[in-house]
Amino acid sequence: MSKDQINLNKLPKHIAIIMDGNGRWAKEKGKFRIFGHQNGVKAVREVSEGCAELGVEYLTLYAFSTENWSRPKIEVNALMTLLVKTIKSETQTLMKNGIKLDAIGDRTTLPAECLKELDEAINATKDNTRMTLILALSYSAKWDIVNATRTIAQKALNGEIAIEDVNEELIDRTLTTHKYPHPELMIRTSGELRISNFLLWEIAYSELYFTTVLWPDYRKEQLYEAILEYQSRERRFGKTSEQLV
Ligand code: IPE
Ligand code: IPE
Ligand code: MG
Repeated sequence: MSKDQINLNKLPKHIAIIMDGNGRWAKEKGKFRIFGHQNGVKAVREVSEGCAELGVEYLTLYAFSTENWSRPKIEVNALMTLLVKTIKSETQTLMKNGIKLDAIGDRTTLPAECLKELDEAINATKDNTRMTLILALSYSAKWDIVNATRTIAQKALNGEIAIEDVNEELIDRTLTTHKYPHPELMIRTSGELRISNFLLWEIAYSELYFTTVLWPDYRKEQLYEAILEYQSRERRFGKTSEQLV
């Protein structure tokens, strides 16, 4: 299994990853959960770099879900602190790799310090064009869909749109993910076989890939494996195999 086996003409434009298993990784080593989160940073760096090197245009990483706010306060605080620190320290690497940073999620719930670092990094990297790295922070797909529904309902009430104008395209345009194509490939680490409220609308036709590797152990090699598997799948979009040729 190597990078050379990947067909660069058949790359997913957008890969989305549920980075899971930090807590278990730490527990296996007899350490606190936060140790696992800290060691997940290297995997983020590797995968971002790996995607950029191949020519993947968008990478969305699920870093903190709406539901993660209900974890013990000590873990939530430690995660927010780590986030601030990491965004700050990784901006240089993003610049070096030509990666533009963006974020999706409920900004109103993020601590001020976190928002500040995030906006600074987004601003500093805004002219980079090699790849866009989208952090899903305080994000959940249902949160996004509820907000989009409200926006659309308000427009209808204002008479700006008619009921007939509500279609897939309008919903697409109203979600916070509207700037990016839907991911062709969604990866989840740690062996859990669920979506946990990540991009529900956007993954309608994504190829799903699950691995038992825990996030802190995830490296470029594992990314290549997932992409190769993706390239071996037949994406039918409801059609028959025969129609595809
Ligand atoms: C993923 O690792 C990181 C976040 C959800 C923030 P977990 O913290 O969920 O690790 P496990 O699943 O408990 O092992
Ligand atoms: C999903 O992982 C959220 C992130 C990776 C940020 P969780 O560990 O929170 O998911 P569940 O609770 O096991 O479904
Ligand atoms: Mg988990």
